Amino acid sequence: MKNVQSITKGVIPAAGLGKRFWPVTKIIPKELLPIVTKPSIHMVLEEANHSGLKDIVLIVALAKKSFFDHLHDFFPQMNFHFVEQREPFGLGHAVGLAEKKVEEEPFVVLLPDVIIDHETTVTQQLIQNFQTIQKSVCAAERVPKEKVHLYGVYDIASSEGKLHKAKGVIEKPNAEKAPSDLGVAGRYLFTPDIFPLLTDTKPGYGGEIQLADAMNILAKREALYAYEFEGRHFDIGHPQGFIQAIDYYGKKEYGNGLD
Ligand code: G1P
Repeated sequence: MKNVQSITKGVIPAAGLGKRFWPVTKIIPKELLPIVTKPSIHMVLEEANHSGLKDIVLIVALAKKSFFDHLHDFFPQMNFHFVEQREPFGLGHAVGLAEKKVEEEPFVVLLPDVIIDHETTVTQQLIQNFQTIQKSVCAAERVPKEKVHLYGVYDIASSEGKLHKAKGVIEKPNAEKAPSDLGVAGRYLFTPDIFPLLTDTKPGYGGEIQLADAMNILAKREALYAYEFEGRHFDIGHPQGFIQAIDYYGKKEYGNGLD
């Protein structure tokens, strides 16, 4: 692949059923649940925009597409491409659907149920690493033992400071089987090499096509790096993380005087 310095494409999988937030997500997509005043997808798009991404591929369930029509008004500088995911076959399947729109370029995947606050966005941090190594590089964070079963977990071959070369990834292992304490954290920068691997990936954990399983093959056949990012991370895909994010951003915006 030729040397690439500028990354302009982002993929946001937004077709999940949001079961952890039923019944509200039966009515509205979970990506529109507000962190105080902003739908969470706006926060992720602000990160994408601030990081120089221009073309955003949103993977959506068609029934909910109209909910996202307002995004053009709030992010006029970005182009939105909608791709339908008809069945909830999993995160790996959703990302694979973006192939035609991404067109052979390195791209960033931003999970909308992960919000990370830092002056240099995580996407920028991944891009900076990519500019040097020119290989797929994804966000990583240290995860306590009792929580590794909630994450994809990297198997690490070697490390240089916060940048680790992975030799594999296991989706949601139990604590005894986890190959490290470095979890996959919801931001991924991939070369297009990931697409044929996603096409070949069979259903794995939970009967779904897992992005982590394709990353595992990528690490073994091509190259995959894990970068321990700087920033405060909220997993708003779980009610507890969602409440923490509201508390954090609420205080950031309105201060502590909530009485
Ligand atoms: C997904 C991925 C997992 C990753 C996590 C990060 O899981 O499958 O590998 O570690 O996002 O948030 P989910 O949280 O959607 O169950």
